[in-house]
Amino acid sequence: MAKSSTQQFGSPDTNLKLDKLTDYLDRFTTALQFQPSREKAFRKIYFDAFAGNGGIDIVGDSMPLFDVYESTSFIKGSARRALELKVPFDEYIFVEKDKTRAKELQVMVNSEYSSLASRVKVINGDANKVLQDFCRSHDWHAKHSRQSRAVVFLDPFGNNVVWDTIKSVAQTKAIDLWYLFPAGLGVNRQVGNDGKIHYTHEASIDALFGGADWRELARQQTGQLSFDSIPTPAFEKLSTPKIMTEFMIKCMKPIFGGGVLTDWLPLGGKGRHDYSLLFAWANPSPKAKLAAKLAAAVLKRKR
Ligand SMILES: C[S@@+](CC[C@H](N)C(=O)[O-])C[C@H]1O[C@@H](n2cnc3c(N)ncnc32)[C@H](O)[C@@H]1O
Repeated sequence: MAKSSTQQFGSPDTNLKLDKLTDYLDRFTTALQFQPSREKAFRKIYFDAFAGNGGIDIVGDSMPLFDVYESTSFIKGSARRALELKVPFDEYIFVEKDKTRAKELQVMVNSEYSSLASRVKVINGDANKVLQDFCRSHDWHAKHSRQSRAVVFLDPFGNNVVWDTIKSVAQTKAIDLWYLFPAGLGVNRQVGNDGKIHYTHEASIDALFGGADWRELARQQTGQLSFDSIPTPAFEKLSTPKIMTEFMIKCMKPIFGGGVLTDWLPLGGKGRHDYSLLFAWANPSPKAKLAAKLAAAVLKRKR
């Protein structure tokens, strides 16, 4: 495996997250093979909205004296793992905003996965726009031709996924979603102990939840201070990553028709809860519950 200018981020939990995703994708494509012919005939699509370039340098958890001595290990990223499944998808869509990474990803596909290259589209663009367009324009429930079913992976660094994107995914009733929700890093850490919400992040958190209701769970008013005779409310922080995760699940449930797992996985570096790995599935009809069962098994499986 050639090593290119890989992304440096993450923690040992990055590997755990990707192991869970791969385990699910593996079970999903394999299970659909053994379904009655209608489901077997589904066109299976994997959509990686924050695809990276195929590789990741995990920065070690040790406390180095100098950065230069920080231990790193190279691991396969989500796109590469999806291309190495025992039973491949019919179509792969990889979206990456960074031009260089998108180029590297395309080179990797052409050179290392040439037998699958005709199934792969690498798009250098914005995850929200490309995914929303895709959800709206694809003929998911075609009456006279092959129907489609997709797995979408949202793996942002921070508050990059807007609520309209989650809604577009749910509206297809044909997509199973893995969402790395930045409960700690993107939400909880932006609320100070005095309940003040970091002003540069307030709007991005509203966009994440699709409204401002989260603020009521993030803090409570404890009284009033007076500055120069101007009454100013005083707050205390209530937010925790767990509270914010449970609220996101509560927001997602109605749009997915209840199809959101209440089990989720806290992830982060050095024991922190930075992200929560969530799973929502398409249209919870009895057949669609196969996806939920697979995901629940994957989340329960020991590290
Ligand atoms: C956490 S990394 C994802 C890593 C990838 N899933 C993997 O396992 O290798 C986030 C990636 O998303 C890209 N990115 C950031 N904002 C984006 C956006 N709005 N749309 C698409 N890609 C974006 C970054 O350049 C980065 O490569």
